[in-house]
Amino acid sequence: MTILILGGQGNLGTQLTKLLAADYAVVSWDKDESDVLNFDLLAARVRELHPDLIINAVAYNAVDKCEDKEEYRLARQLNVDLPAVLADLALEQGAVLIHYSSDYVFSGTELKRQFVENDTPNPVNKYGESKFQGEREILRRAASGLKYYLIRTSKLFGPRGASEHAKPSFFDTMLELVKTKEELPVVNEELSCFTYTPDLAAATKRLWELEEPFGIYHLINEGPVTWYDAATELFRLRGIAANLRAVRGENVPRPARRPKFSVLDNTRFRKLRPWKVALKEYLENN
Ligand SMILES: NC(=O)c1ccc[n+]([C@@H]2O[C@H](COP(=O)([O-])OP(=O)(O)OC[C@H]3O[C@@H](n4cnc5c(N)ncnc54)[C@H](OP(=O)(O)O)[C@@H]3O)[C@@H](O)[C@H]2O)c1
Repeated sequence: MTILILGGQGNLGTQLTKLLAADYAVVSWDKDESDVLNFDLLAARVRELHPDLIINAVAYNAVDKCEDKEEYRLARQLNVDLPAVLADLALEQGAVLIHYSSDYVFSGTELKRQFVENDTPNPVNKYGESKFQGEREILRRAASGLKYYLIRTSKLFGPRGASEHAKPSFFDTMLELVKTKEELPVVNEELSCFTYTPDLAAATKRLWELEEPFGIYHLINEGPVTWYDAATELFRLRGIAANLRAVRGENVPRPARRPKFSVLDNTRFRKLRPWKVALKEYLENN
């Protein structure tokens, strides 16, 4: 049993690699080991390895930068073309493919409700559009027999990935900002769910090990929350008297629009624990 993880040093990829390598033969590639955008080379290396499971944790994740035309080209290569190539390779090799998508595939502008797995995406920004197009590449090949888990998740946090480029999570950023800022304006909108990367890695492993039916899954920690309420809980748990100010999304100028509500509802798999419990554990261990 060989598992190939792409993006193995990203925030999620690091957790997947750590967890799966305890039980399986894992080959984990990151930018240094493999240029995933050299598709011919990638295909040759995958064929040589002949993995049973391919996990794609590579992504273009810079939501605001993605609105720029040049950046969007790169985003499409990483979020659309790469999953298409991997889906073809998985089909050819008879491997299972696990790919991650985002709550940002949903618009969440009018409907104040949760999104279930078979709701129709309607992204409001370029990043969401690229993730949606990536989903379509996978689903298109499902009809040809692709064995896949398409996992939508949102607002990742957890230990920083092994890569020097790994981005700090919202919580880590808040803990840094509070050291120097007298007041922290935080958006009290954009309701969605946080997801602890070790929990997501463990749920991904269970999903695959239990041989759940192939398809789309929503894996998030339970409990929708705004950025502001999440920051309030963070500082309460850390015992920091931060001066938070709740602001509307439109008062924080950002190039990309955000969904106002993008709460994912997990109706198909065992629910993950509440985000507050996961955050408490994260803070205790870091
Ligand atoms: N972060 C979130 O809040 C969030 C929310 C919803 C969904 N998701 C989805 O969850 C998945 C995991 O996200 P994440 O936050 O763990 O991502 P991440 O930390 O940004 O990791 C992305 C990985 O992709 C690699 N990568 C980027 N460009 C590459 C290239 N040209 N060649 C090879 N590797 C390349 C990065 O390598 P380097 O580190 O070397 O650059 C890194 O290992 C993604 O599908 C993402 O869209 C994330």
